[in-house]
Amino acid sequence: MRKLDNKVALITGSAGGLGREIAVGLAKEGAIIVLNDVNETLVAQTAEELKEKFEVDYVIGDVSKKSDALAMVDQVVKRFGKIDILVNNAGGSLHTPRVLEDIEEEDWDKVLNVNLKGTFLLSQIAVKYMKENGGGKIINMSSIGGRTSSLVTGVAYAAAKGGVISFSRRLASEVGPFGINVNIIAPGLIISGERMHKLFYEENSQEQQERVINEIPSRTLGEKEDIANAAVFLASDESKYMNGAVLDVNGGRFMG
Ligand SMILES: NC(=O)c1ccc[n+]([C@@H]2O[C@H](COP(=O)([O-])OP(=O)(O)OC[C@H]3O[C@@H](n4cnc5c(N)ncnc54)[C@H](O)[C@@H]3O)[C@@H](O)[C@H]2O)c1
Repeated sequence: MRKLDNKVALITGSAGGLGREIAVGLAKEGAIIVLNDVNETLVAQTAEELKEKFEVDYVIGDVSKKSDALAMVDQVVKRFGKIDILVNNAGGSLHTPRVLEDIEEEDWDKVLNVNLKGTFLLSQIAVKYMKENGGGKIINMSSIGGRTSSLVTGVAYAAAKGGVISFSRRLASEVGPFGINVNIIAPGLIISGERMHKLFYEENSQEQQERVINEIPSRTLGEKEDIANAAVFLASDESKYMNGAVLDVNGGRFMG
Protein backbone atom coordinates (compact mmCIF):
# COMPACT_ATOMS: atom_id res chain seq x y z
CA MET A 1 0.00 0.00 0.00
CA ARG A 2 1.47 3.31 -1.08
CA LYS A 3 0.79 6.60 0.71
CA LEU A 4 -1.66 7.95 -1.87
CA ASP A 5 -3.28 4.89 -3.44
CA ASN A 6 -6.78 5.66 -4.79
CA LYS A 7 -6.40 9.39 -4.22
CA VAL A 8 -7.31 11.85 -6.98
CA ALA A 9 -5.07 14.92 -7.23
CA LEU A 10 -5.38 18.09 -9.30
CA ILE A 11 -2.14 20.02 -9.65
CA THR A 12 -2.42 23.46 -11.25
CA GLY A 13 0.32 24.86 -13.47
CA SER A 14 1.82 21.42 -13.90
CA ALA A 15 2.86 21.32 -17.56
CA GLY A 16 6.44 21.77 -16.35
CA GLY A 17 8.56 23.08 -13.48
CA LEU A 18 7.67 22.36 -9.88
CA GLY A 19 4.07 21.44 -10.75
CA ARG A 20 5.16 18.58 -12.97
CA GLU A 21 7.60 17.36 -10.35
CA ILE A 22 4.93 17.49 -7.65
CA ALA A 23 2.54 15.56 -9.91
CA VAL A 24 5.17 12.87 -10.48
CA GLY A 25 5.87 12.70 -6.73
CA LEU A 26 2.18 12.20 -5.95
CA ALA A 27 1.81 9.63 -8.76
CA LYS A 28 4.78 7.62 -7.48
CA GLU A 29 2.84 7.23 -4.23
CA GLY A 30 -0.18 5.92 -6.11
CA ALA A 31 -2.30 9.02 -6.75
CA ILE A 32 -4.27 9.48 -9.96
CA ILE A 33 -2.92 12.80 -11.20
CA VAL A 34 -4.77 15.43 -13.18
CA LEU A 35 -2.47 18.03 -14.67
CA ASN A 36 -3.59 21.56 -15.48
CA ASP A 37 -2.05 24.44 -17.34
CA VAL A 38 -2.83 27.39 -19.62
CA ASN A 39 -0.15 26.09 -21.95
CA GLU A 40 -2.27 23.65 -23.93
CA THR A 41 0.50 22.12 -26.02
CA LEU A 42 2.90 21.57 -23.16
CA VAL A 43 0.34 20.12 -20.75
CA ALA A 44 -0.85 17.64 -23.40
CA GLN A 45 2.76 16.67 -24.11
CA THR A 46 3.57 16.26 -20.42
CA ALA A 47 0.48 14.10 -19.86
CA GLU A 48 1.46 11.95 -22.83
CA GLU A 49 4.96 11.46 -21.41
CA LEU A 50 3.74 10.60 -17.92
CA LYS A 51 1.02 8.25 -19.20
CA GLU A 52 3.60 5.55 -19.79
CA LYS A 53 4.19 5.18 -16.06
CA PHE A 54 1.23 6.69 -14.22
CA GLU A 55 -2.54 7.14 -14.29
CA VAL A 56 -2.73 10.68 -15.61
CA ASP A 57 -5.21 13.04 -17.20
CA TYR A 58 -5.19 16.78 -17.87
CA VAL A 59 -7.51 19.77 -17.90
CA ILE A 60 -6.71 22.98 -19.72
CA GLY A 61 -7.62 26.25 -18.04
CA ASP A 62 -6.59 29.58 -16.54
CA VAL A 63 -6.78 29.37 -12.75
CA SER A 64 -7.56 33.08 -12.49
CA LYS A 65 -10.84 32.74 -14.41
CA LYS A 66 -13.82 31.46 -12.46
CA SER A 67 -15.41 29.74 -15.48
CA ASP A 68 -12.17 27.85 -16.19
CA ALA A 69 -11.69 26.95 -12.53
CA LEU A 70 -15.23 25.59 -12.31
CA ALA A 71 -14.83 23.59 -15.51
CA MET A 72 -11.49 22.16 -14.37
CA VAL A 73 -12.71 20.83 -11.03
CA ASP A 74 -15.98 19.63 -12.53
CA GLN A 75 -14.08 17.63 -15.15
CA VAL A 76 -11.94 15.99 -12.47
CA VAL A 77 -15.00 14.99 -10.46
CA LYS A 78 -16.90 13.78 -13.54
CA ARG A 79 -13.98 11.63 -14.66
CA PHE A 80 -12.82 10.25 -11.33
CA GLY A 81 -15.79 10.75 -8.97
CA LYS A 82 -13.98 12.97 -6.46
CA ILE A 83 -11.07 15.27 -5.72
CA ASP A 84 -8.91 14.35 -2.71
CA ILE A 85 -5.89 16.59 -3.23
CA LEU A 86 -5.65 20.08 -4.71
CA VAL A 87 -2.23 21.63 -5.25
CA ASN A 88 -2.52 25.32 -6.06
CA ASN A 89 0.84 25.60 -7.77
CA ALA A 90 0.17 27.81 -10.81
CA GLY A 91 1.93 31.11 -10.33
CA GLY A 92 5.20 32.94 -10.33
CA SER A 93 6.23 36.53 -10.94
CA LEU A 94 5.12 35.99 -14.57
CA HIS A 95 7.88 38.04 -16.20
CA THR A 96 6.74 41.25 -14.47
CA PRO A 97 9.23 43.95 -13.37
CA ARG A 98 10.91 43.68 -10.01
CA VAL A 99 11.39 47.38 -9.17
CA LEU A 100 8.41 49.28 -7.73
CA GLU A 101 8.54 52.19 -10.17
CA ASP A 102 8.46 49.83 -13.17
CA ILE A 103 5.41 47.82 -12.13
CA GLU A 104 2.34 48.65 -14.21
CA GLU A 105 -1.20 48.15 -12.96
CA GLU A 106 -1.59 45.20 -15.37
CA ASP A 107 1.55 43.58 -13.91
CA TRP A 108 0.15 43.86 -10.40
CA ASP A 109 -3.22 42.45 -11.47
CA LYS A 110 -1.66 39.55 -13.38
CA VAL A 111 0.54 38.45 -10.48
CA LEU A 112 -2.21 38.81 -7.87
CA ASN A 113 -4.79 37.13 -10.10
CA VAL A 114 -2.84 34.00 -10.93
CA ASN A 115 -1.11 33.44 -7.57
CA LEU A 116 -3.79 34.58 -5.14
CA LYS A 117 -7.17 34.78 -6.87
CA GLY A 118 -6.50 31.45 -8.60
CA THR A 119 -5.79 29.85 -5.23
CA PHE A 120 -9.06 31.28 -3.88
CA LEU A 121 -11.16 30.15 -6.86
CA LEU A 122 -9.83 26.59 -7.05
CA SER A 123 -10.02 26.14 -3.27
CA GLN A 124 -13.59 27.41 -3.12
CA ILE A 125 -14.74 24.99 -5.80
CA ALA A 126 -12.76 21.99 -4.53
CA VAL A 127 -13.85 22.48 -0.91
CA LYS A 128 -17.46 21.89 -1.92
CA TYR A 129 -16.59 18.42 -3.22
CA MET A 130 -14.15 17.68 -0.40
CA LYS A 131 -16.84 18.41 2.19
CA GLU A 132 -19.23 16.05 0.40
CA ASN A 133 -16.49 13.43 0.36
CA GLY A 134 -15.63 13.79 4.06
CA GLY A 135 -12.25 15.49 3.69
CA GLY A 136 -9.33 16.45 1.53
CA LYS A 137 -5.93 18.09 1.29
CA ILE A 138 -5.20 21.53 -0.11
CA ILE A 139 -1.59 22.48 -0.64
CA ASN A 140 -0.91 26.08 -1.56
CA MET A 141 2.32 27.30 -3.06
CA SER A 142 3.75 30.38 -1.40
CA SER A 143 7.39 31.39 -1.63
CA ILE A 144 10.29 32.67 0.38
CA GLY A 145 9.29 35.92 -1.36
CA GLY A 146 6.09 35.87 0.71
CA ARG A 147 7.97 35.07 3.94
CA THR A 148 10.77 37.62 3.85
CA SER A 149 12.31 40.07 1.43
CA SER A 150 13.56 38.29 -1.69
CA LEU A 151 16.25 39.71 -3.94
CA VAL A 152 14.89 38.11 -7.09
CA THR A 153 11.22 39.06 -6.99
CA GLY A 154 9.26 42.26 -6.41
CA VAL A 155 6.42 43.67 -4.32
CA ALA A 156 3.51 42.27 -6.35
CA TYR A 157 4.86 38.74 -5.94
CA ALA A 158 5.56 39.38 -2.23
CA ALA A 159 1.99 40.60 -1.71
CA ALA A 160 0.52 37.67 -3.61
CA LYS A 161 2.57 35.00 -1.84
CA GLY A 162 2.12 36.61 1.58
CA GLY A 163 -1.58 36.67 0.76
CA VAL A 164 -1.50 32.96 -0.06
CA ILE A 165 -0.28 32.26 3.49
CA SER A 166 -2.93 34.42 5.21
CA PHE A 167 -5.62 33.01 2.92
CA SER A 168 -4.56 29.44 3.67
CA ARG A 169 -4.51 29.91 7.43
CA ARG A 170 -7.95 31.47 7.52
CA LEU A 171 -9.25 28.71 5.25
CA ALA A 172 -7.62 26.01 7.41
CA SER A 173 -9.57 27.19 10.44
CA GLU A 174 -12.78 27.30 8.41
CA VAL A 175 -12.57 23.87 6.77
CA GLY A 176 -10.54 21.93 9.36
CA PRO A 177 -13.75 20.74 11.06
CA PHE A 178 -14.72 19.07 7.76
CA GLY A 179 -11.59 16.93 7.63
CA ILE A 180 -9.81 19.22 5.19
CA ASN A 181 -6.16 20.15 5.73
CA VAL A 182 -4.85 23.34 4.17
CA ASN A 183 -1.09 23.72 4.29
CA ILE A 184 1.52 25.80 2.54
CA ILE A 185 4.89 25.19 0.92
CA ALA A 186 7.23 28.16 0.77
CA PRO A 187 10.16 27.20 -1.48
CA GLY A 188 13.43 29.05 -1.60
CA LEU A 189 15.15 29.53 -4.91
CA ILE A 190 14.81 26.49 -7.13
CA ILE A 191 15.84 26.31 -10.78
CA SER A 192 12.61 24.64 -11.79
CA GLY A 193 12.97 25.26 -15.52
CA GLU A 194 13.84 27.85 -18.13
CA ARG A 195 11.91 30.68 -16.47
CA MET A 196 13.85 30.38 -13.22
CA HIS A 197 17.10 29.78 -15.05
CA LYS A 198 16.68 33.08 -16.89
CA LEU A 199 15.48 34.89 -13.76
CA PHE A 200 18.46 33.80 -11.69
CA TYR A 201 21.38 33.43 -14.10
CA GLU A 202 20.60 36.03 -16.78
CA GLU A 203 18.97 38.77 -14.73
CA ASN A 204 21.56 38.77 -11.94
CA SER A 205 25.26 39.52 -12.07
CA GLN A 206 27.77 36.88 -10.94
CA GLU A 207 28.20 38.91 -7.75
CA GLN A 208 24.44 38.95 -7.07
CA GLN A 209 24.23 35.20 -7.69
CA GLU A 210 27.04 34.55 -5.22
CA ARG A 211 25.44 36.86 -2.68
CA VAL A 212 22.17 34.91 -2.89
CA ILE A 213 23.88 31.53 -2.49
CA ASN A 214 26.07 32.74 0.38
CA GLU A 215 22.95 33.77 2.28
CA ILE A 216 21.69 30.17 2.22
CA PRO A 217 23.05 28.15 5.17
CA SER A 218 23.00 24.99 3.02
CA ARG A 219 25.04 26.95 0.39
CA THR A 220 23.08 25.62 -2.56
CA LEU A 221 19.86 26.23 -4.45
CA GLY A 222 17.08 23.70 -3.90
CA GLU A 223 16.06 20.92 -6.26
CA LYS A 224 12.62 20.21 -7.67
CA GLU A 225 12.41 16.94 -5.73
CA ASP A 226 12.77 18.85 -2.45
CA ILE A 227 9.44 20.53 -3.17
CA ALA A 228 7.78 17.36 -4.50
CA ASN A 229 8.78 15.53 -1.30
CA ALA A 230 7.18 18.26 0.82
CA ALA A 231 4.00 18.04 -1.29
CA VAL A 232 3.79 14.26 -0.91
CA PHE A 233 4.12 14.64 2.85
CA LEU A 234 1.37 17.28 3.01
CA ALA A 235 -0.88 15.21 0.72
CA SER A 236 -0.53 12.08 2.84
CA ASP A 237 -1.90 11.03 6.20
CA GLU A 238 1.56 11.49 7.68
CA SER A 239 0.69 15.18 8.00
CA LYS A 240 -2.88 14.63 9.23
CA TYR A 241 -2.42 16.80 12.32
CA MET A 242 -1.01 19.73 10.36
CA ASN A 243 -3.33 22.53 9.35
CA GLY A 244 -2.40 26.07 8.34
CA ALA A 245 1.31 25.22 8.54
CA VAL A 246 4.02 26.66 6.33
CA LEU A 247 6.78 24.29 5.24
CA ASP A 248 9.82 26.45 4.52
CA VAL A 249 11.90 24.48 2.03
CA ASN A 250 14.77 26.87 1.52
CA GLY A 251 18.08 25.54 2.83
CA GLY A 252 17.68 27.69 5.96
CA ARG A 253 17.69 31.03 4.12
CA PHE A 254 14.58 32.03 6.08
CA MET A 255 13.66 30.33 9.34
CA GLY A 256 10.03 31.05 10.12
N1 LIG B 1 11.04 27.95 -8.71
C1 LIG B 1 11.20 28.62 -7.59
O1 LIG B 1 12.32 28.96 -7.20
C2 LIG B 1 10.02 28.97 -6.75
C3 LIG B 1 10.26 29.51 -5.49
C4 LIG B 1 9.19 29.85 -4.69
C5 LIG B 1 7.90 29.64 -5.13
N2 LIG B 1 7.68 29.12 -6.35
C6 LIG B 1 6.29 28.94 -6.78
O2 LIG B 1 6.10 27.60 -7.21
C7 LIG B 1 5.13 27.57 -8.26
C8 LIG B 1 5.73 26.89 -9.49
O3 LIG B 1 6.89 27.59 -9.87
P1 LIG B 1 7.80 27.14 -11.11
O4 LIG B 1 9.14 27.67 -10.82
O5 LIG B 1 7.62 25.71 -11.38
O6 LIG B 1 7.14 28.02 -12.26
P2 LIG B 1 7.03 27.73 -13.83
O7 LIG B 1 6.87 29.05 -14.49
O8 LIG B 1 8.13 26.83 -14.28
O9 LIG B 1 5.67 26.93 -13.91
C9 LIG B 1 4.44 27.56 -13.69
C10 LIG B 1 3.41 26.90 -14.56
O10 LIG B 1 2.17 27.54 -14.33
C11 LIG B 1 1.52 27.75 -15.57
N3 LIG B 1 0.59 28.87 -15.44
C12 LIG B 1 0.87 30.19 -15.43
N4 LIG B 1 -0.24 30.90 -15.32
C13 LIG B 1 -1.27 30.01 -15.25
C14 LIG B 1 -2.67 30.14 -15.11
N5 LIG B 1 -3.23 31.35 -15.07
N6 LIG B 1 -3.42 29.03 -15.04
C15 LIG B 1 -2.85 27.80 -15.13
N7 LIG B 1 -1.52 27.61 -15.26
C16 LIG B 1 -0.75 28.71 -15.31
C17 LIG B 1 2.64 28.03 -16.54
O11 LIG B 1 2.23 27.83 -17.89
C18 LIG B 1 3.72 27.06 -16.08
O12 LIG B 1 3.61 25.81 -16.72
C19 LIG B 1 4.71 29.02 -8.48
O13 LIG B 1 3.56 29.30 -7.72
C20 LIG B 1 5.89 29.80 -7.95
O14 LIG B 1 5.55 31.11 -7.55
C21 LIG B 1 8.71 28.78 -7.18
